[in-house]
Formats: sequence, structure tokens, C-alpha cells
Amino acid sequence: MSKQLLMDRFGRMHDYLRISVTDRCNLRCVYCMPEEGMEFEPDEKLLTFDEIADVVRVLAGLGVRKLRLTGGEPLVRKNLEQLVAMLSAIPGIEDIALTTNGIYFASRAEKLRAAGLTRVNISLDSLRADRFALITRGGDITRVLASIEEAYRVGITPIKLNVVLMKGINDDEIADFLQMTIDRPIQVRFIEYMPIGHADENWKSRYLPLSAVLDCCQERGWQAEASEAVYGNGPAQNYRIAGAKGAFGLIHPISDHFCETCNRLRLTADGNIKPCLYWSDEFNVRKYIGDDEAVENLFFRALDIKPQNHEMAQALLNEAQSHTPTLRRMSQIGG
Ligand code: GTP
Ligand code: 5AD
Ligand code: SF4
Repeated sequence: MSKQLLMDRFGRMHDYLRISVTDRCNLRCVYCMPEEGMEFEPDEKLLTFDEIADVVRVLAGLGVRKLRLTGGEPLVRKNLEQLVAMLSAIPGIEDIALTTNGIYFASRAEKLRAAGLTRVNISLDSLRADRFALITRGGDITRVLASIEEAYRVGITPIKLNVVLMKGINDDEIADFLQMTIDRPIQVRFIEYMPIGHADENWKSRYLPLSAVLDCCQERGWQAEASEAVYGNGPAQNYRIAGAKGAFGLIHPISDHFCETCNRLRLTADGNIKPCLYWSDEFNVRKYIGDDEAVENLFFRALDIKPQNHEMAQALLNEAQSHTPTLRRMSQIGG
């Protein structure tokens, strides 16, 4: 008998799982974590690699084909290469990507590729060393730049850079990032700053709609054309400047949400299924692992209550919200 696929009540098919492997991070980006006072899950609360692989095996039977490993910073989890190898051996899994801050990536790239990693997205919110250190609260940009070069060298492509745009912080670098896409075969994705998981004092004053990126193209006389050429499973709308070697993407959950095409579920490091990034609904899968039918049923329950969309834009206006927004921070979800 063929299995049911992961379709929700709005007809959205889910073939993509984002797996957070740790809530810890070696940086403290201003839009993601406070400088001090974060409390992290003890190791025994984290799903083991065997448990994660077991969940993925069950989901592969329900049509999941694409995985993304996230954190916190996924490379602070020891032996991540081993997890990648375990996941890539699961029949049906076609794409295993990583979202990393790039600090530890260069020295691990070769092993990750050999284990089966297919793609990498690297966060880089500024091209200026001093500003990068301020945004990440201490990060060394040279390590991130070395990771980008290493990803090219070992052939983990396409390489995507994630730039969270913040008014008055890095919006004067839009043109520099766009210039980078003209010069190099790289994909730069501009991301709207999201109010996730905590009453973020910065958010209202720093939020900037991504129309600023298209305005910048116009000011410079750069012809930005919509482009389907960039491979991805996420919500980015892709563009290419005429004649450019690379491309850029816009991820704009606030100014123009993309929930109608949502294809993804999330698994947190402590074993919770999150049907939507924004809302608090979660289902802990850990105690069911080993009973495939129970795991399947829990994912179907999570899908059953998946909301039609998030209401982050309403949060901007202080309007009432229909569910309870999550209290998790972005680092505890994995983006
Ligand atoms: P690919 O398109 O497959 O390369 O990956 P991706 O863009 O989905 O992954 P990445 O981890 O690089 O995410 C980039 C940004 O998109 C992050 O800021 C995520 O938080 C955001 N993002 C990804 N999925 C969702 C989503 O379902 N909802 C919202 N609001 N943001 C998302
Ligand atoms: N808003 C938008 N993007 C965010 N990220 C982390 N926090 C936020 C936020 N508040 C991004 C990071 C990383 C990805 C996993 O999520 O830059 O690229
Ligand atoms: Fe760490 Fe990523 Fe959060 Fe920055 S955005 S603090 S790199 S988890």
C-alpha cells in the first residue's frame, strides 16, 4: 500500500525538513541572540544522531527529499560529518544542505562534502571586518571569507550568502553585495529582519523592506531580471543583474509573505516538530522514536494544525494575533 504524503489542509506538499542540531552558537548576532544570559539545552536533551536519522528515515517514506541542517551553529555539534553521512545513506534523500555562520566551515568542508553535503548557505551581514565583528559580537570575517573560498575549492556549490538587512546598520552595503554578484558566481540573499521569539527592541527601528534592494538596482542603472536559475528549496525570489556572474535573492516574509508555497517542516534540537517558524505550536517526537507509525501520526498532527500563514506583518502594526507567537529565539529554531 502506498503511503500518504505530507500534505496539509491548504494543499501544501511538504518535502523539506529543516533540522536544528544544536541551539548553541559560537557567535551572538544582534538580531538572533542576546549578548549574555542565553541558557542552552543540556546535551542529554538533544536528539542523538541515531534518533534524527530514524525520524528522517520515516519521513523519507512520506516524501521528504530535502534536508537542511541548522543550529544555533550546526558545526558546534561534534562530528556533524557523521550525521551527514548517516542522512545521505537514507533512501529517498536527495539534497542535504547546511546553514552556517562560516566560522568553522573551512576546515570541515572537505569532510562534509565527502560525507554527502550537497550545498551550503553562509551568513555574512557585512563585508567590512569591523562592522561584521559588531553585528556578530566578535566574529572574525576572515574565517568566513576563507570558508567561502573553501566551499568553491571543494565544489560545494551553489554557494549562497545570507544577509539580514538592518536599517542604519548594513543597508549602505546593498550595492557592495550586489556588485559581488556581478563579479562572482555567488548567490547573495537579502533577508528581511524578522521579529522572532522575543520582544526584540531593535526590530521595529531596524526593519527594512527589501524593496530597498530593487531601488538600489534602479539607482545604479542595474537591470535586475527575475531568474529561475538558482537551485533552492526555500522562499527566496531570485533575480540576476544583466551580465552578472552570480545572482541575488529576496526573502521577504514581512513585506510580501510566501506562506502559500511553504514546503517545509522543522525539527528542533530538543526534538520538537514545528509546523511553522513563527507560531508556538510544537510536538515532541522523541518518545515516539522507534515506533514508525506513531512518528508518522505525530507529523500528520503537526500538519493538521499548520496555520495558513504567519502574521509577522501584523506584529509590526501591533495588531492582535490569531495564535501565540513562539517564545523560542531564532537560534533555538534554526531559521
Ligand atoms: P535554499 O533556498 O534551499 O537554499 O534554503 P533556505 O533559503 O530555505 O535556507 P536558509 O537557512 O539559508 O534560510 C534563509 C532565510 O530564510 C533565513 O532567515 C530563514 O529564517 C528564512 N526562512 C526559511 N524558511 C522560512 C519560512 O518558512 N518562513 C520564514 N518566515 N522564513 C524562512
Ligand atoms: N530575521 C531574519 N533572519 C534571521 N536569521 C537569524 N535571525 C534572523 C532574524 N531575526 C538568519 C541568519 C541565518 C539564517 C539561519 O537565519 O542570518 O542566515
Ligand atoms: Fe549564531 Fe546564526 Fe544566531 Fe548568528 S544567526 S547568533 S550565527 S545562530
